[in-house]
Formats: sequence, structure tokens, C-alpha cells
Amino acid sequence: MAIKKKTSSKAVAGQTRVALLGFGTVGSSVARVLAASRFPGIRLTHIFNRDVERKRGSAAAKCVPADVVWTQSIDEIFASDVDVVIELMGGLNPAEGWLRKALSAGKSVVTANKQLIAYRGSALAALAAKHNTQLLYGAAVAGGVPVIPGMMQGLCGDQTTRLSGIVNGTCNYILSRMETGADYATVLADAQKLGYAEADPSADVDGYDARAKLCILSRIALHAELNLDEIVTQSVAQVSAIDFAYAKEMNCTIRQVSRAQLDGATVHARVGPMLVPMTSPIAWSHGTQNMVVVSGRFGGDVVFSGHGAGGDPTAVAVVSDLLAVSQRSIPVSLPVRKRAVSGDFLARHYLRFVVDDRPGIVSAISGALAKVGANIDSILQRRGYPKHRLPFVVTTEPCLTSTLEKALKPISRMDCMLERPLCLQVLEVED
Ligand SMILES: NC(=O)c1ccc[n+]([C@@H]2O[C@H](COP(=O)([O-])OP(=O)(O)OC[C@H]3O[C@@H](n4cnc5c(N)ncnc54)[C@H](OP(=O)(O)O)[C@@H]3O)[C@@H](O)[C@H]2O)c1
Repeated sequence: MAIKKKTSSKAVAGQTRVALLGFGTVGSSVARVLAASRFPGIRLTHIFNRDVERKRGSAAAKCVPADVVWTQSIDEIFASDVDVVIELMGGLNPAEGWLRKALSAGKSVVTANKQLIAYRGSALAALAAKHNTQLLYGAAVAGGVPVIPGMMQGLCGDQTTRLSGIVNGTCNYILSRMETGADYATVLADAQKLGYAEADPSADVDGYDARAKLCILSRIALHAELNLDEIVTQSVAQVSAIDFAYAKEMNCTIRQVSRAQLDGATVHARVGPMLVPMTSPIAWSHGTQNMVVVSGRFGGDVVFSGHGAGGDPTAVAVVSDLLAVSQRSIPVSLPVRKRAVSGDFLARHYLRFVVDDRPGIVSAISGALAKVGANIDSILQRRGYPKHRLPFVVTTEPCLTSTLEKALKPISRMDCMLERPLCLQVLEVED
């Protein structure tokens, strides 16, 4: 049902007519950016949202021109003469069906929806090509940081072999605050108060949000179509203050890193907390900042960094895509191949144990590691902890994560082990 029977002004030649689906954090920022910048030839004509009167009466709606049609009828959008549909609702359904309908009707689509693009991006891009329309999603990864357009346009001439970085601002806020001594539960509660983390933080802290973004980045940078659900994720929830103290002794910090590396027909891909050397740019990102390092065979490393989320930075990415569509800038598209995924990396590893101390523990752990062929590089034990709850760390020489996991099974079952051992990959600077 349309709230107002009025239709927006008639199409004008050379003008791009735009419908906004979703008037939430990003949608209302897009409306504000469009109102403030008045880009020539761009006209916001429709805003769609459920229960739309609530949105129309909100303070955020004050910037919206009076002739814009507010509607809660998606059919009114399809029946209209809009050229571009900007989807900012999120989720797979009903967004996928509606965007399919828009593309099939010859309307171009701009979206910030990472889940939809991670799961259905290739199929939607094929549909857009079939109908000679455009699908752009520059805001779907790293919000206002132009990683996607930068890789698509500026780096497509290289052979990208790997990428790594921080694409979840919530985890970066949590871990960079823990670096200064705060504990996980306190920082998570602060992140929730500040609106950086959801009441259920699982999508962020368990790595699912970053996994969707890694899947999109791998498609663009490595031309690899990955099965999203096969990408290994590790939660940051097990990281504690003591790990930052040990990381510092190793001249490292800890970040949630998303990394992917092409290796023949396989892509090694993983999301999780990792030790990052202080000399790596990834260690320099703080708060909700995002940072992606893309490594090319010919061009070497390129670093993208900036505000990965938030209404206004994300709106800039959305509006930039809108302008590209309106100026018929054709995005570069190279063939993508399905690739097997492995979470294994050949890396040094950090193993943290919390034990009820007694003689023979270190030799039992080193025995279990030796049995799978993993070599110990160092053993770190900080003073000042009670013997009945003693945290200590073993670092290994480069080996496969799966090799260590084999050894950690029997080690976890040892009587003295008070917590599940924490196993983190150590990123090398060139990673
Ligand atoms: N926020 C960020 O910093 C950020 C950064 C990068 C990408 N993104 C992506 O941008 C998209 C929008 O995020 P957001 O933060 O703006 O979300 P949001 O604040 O929750 O806004 C979503 C809006 O869409 C409306 N909506 C949702 N489902 C709908 C449906 N089925 N029918 C009609 N209206 C519907 C919601 O209405 P109600 O108010 O009734 O729920 C709300 O107004 C998501 O895909 C997100 O992943 C966000």
C-alpha cells in the first residue's frame, strides 16, 4: 500500500531516478549525502521501508525533498520509472528476490548487503549482465574504504596472489582496546553500549561477518568462487589479556585477521584472531578502523585503510557506486573459477595453555608436538601467576595448523589442562 497517492515528478532525459530500499542507518545517511551534495543528474524519487510513516516522521527524514514518494509497497517501486534501486535493508530474503526482480526489469542495483553478495553475488552479476544492467556493491566490504572499487578498477591488471586484513570493525575495537589492558567482557559490553556490537555479538566475534567479506574479496582479487560455509572461522572470544602480554614479548599484537591465499587450485582462507607483528600495517589499525593489504605479483603490496562502517562513510561508498552507474562507468569483470578452500596455512603458531602446574607438563606437550612433527621454537612463562592456574606459551616453527590440531587433541585431554588450549597463527610481515 502506498502511503501517499502522489507520484514523483516525471522522468527527465539524462536524469537518473533513484529508489532507496531501507531507511535505516545507511539508508538515511545516503539520503542526507544526496541532499547535501545535489549531484547533477541524480534524483531520489522513492523511499521504501516497512511501516514507512515511522520513518517519514523521523528526524532523519527532514533532509528528504518534499517530492520524494514514501512507500511500503515494493510493487510501487517495480511499477515506477526508477533507473537505480539502492538496497540497504540487509539479509538474504526478501532482498534477493526483490533485487532479481529489479535487475530483470532493467533497473540497475547498488547494495551494501555483504551476506547477499557473498552467497549470491555471482548469480546476481550474471543476471545483471543478461539484462544489460549494473550491479555494484562497493560498500559491502570495509564500508567507506574503497577496497572493492580499488581492486576491481585499480588492481585488476595485476595477478593478486594473497590478501589479508581487518574487515570487522567490532572485533578491531575489542582487540585494540584489549591491547591496552582491558578484559574481553568489559570491552564487549562497551562495544554494545556504543552500538558497535549487536546484543548477540556472534556474527562479529565468531568471524561470520568477516567470512562473508573475505568471500567477496577473494572473488574480486583472486578470481576465486569459494563456498562461504567452508571458510574456517575462529572466535576472538577465547583471547584474553594474558595473550596480549605474551604477544608483546614477541613484538606482536593480536587482531582478527581475514586472509586468503591462492595456491594452485586451492585457496587457503581463514578468519580468526592471529598474532600480527608490530611492523605489519595490520597492527597499526585501531578502534573500528578497517585495513586490507592486497599483494600482487607485479605491483607488490597495496594497503587500503579507513572507516569500515558507520552510516556516513558507508553512504559515501553507496553514492559513489550510484554515480558510477549513472555515468555508465562499466566495472571490470574477469572470469571467476570455483576453488576448493582450506583453512590450513604453513605458519609459526602461538599455543597458550592454562594448567594446574606439576612436573612433566612441558615434556608431555613437547612429546605430543614431536609426535606430529611440530618443532618448538620457544617457551614463554611470565612470572606472577599462581601455580594452580598457570598460563604459559609455546611457539612453534612453521608448520601446518592442521598438524598442530592433531597434537592439541590429546594435549587438551591432559588432567592438568584447565582451559582448551588457544592456538593462533602468527602472521609474517610479508603475509
Ligand atoms: N551500518 C553500517 O555501518 C554498514 C556498513 C557496511 C554495510 N552495511 C550494510 O548495509 C545494509 C543496511 O545496514 P544498516 O546498518 O543501515 O541497517 P538498519 O539500520 O537495520 O536499516 C535497515 C532498514 O531496512 C528496513 N528493512 C529491513 N528489512 C526490511 C523489509 N523486509 N522490508 C522493508 N524494510 C526493511 C529496516 O526497517 P525497520 O526499521 O523496520 O527494521 C531499516 O529501516 C546491510 O546490508 C548492512 O550489512 C552496513
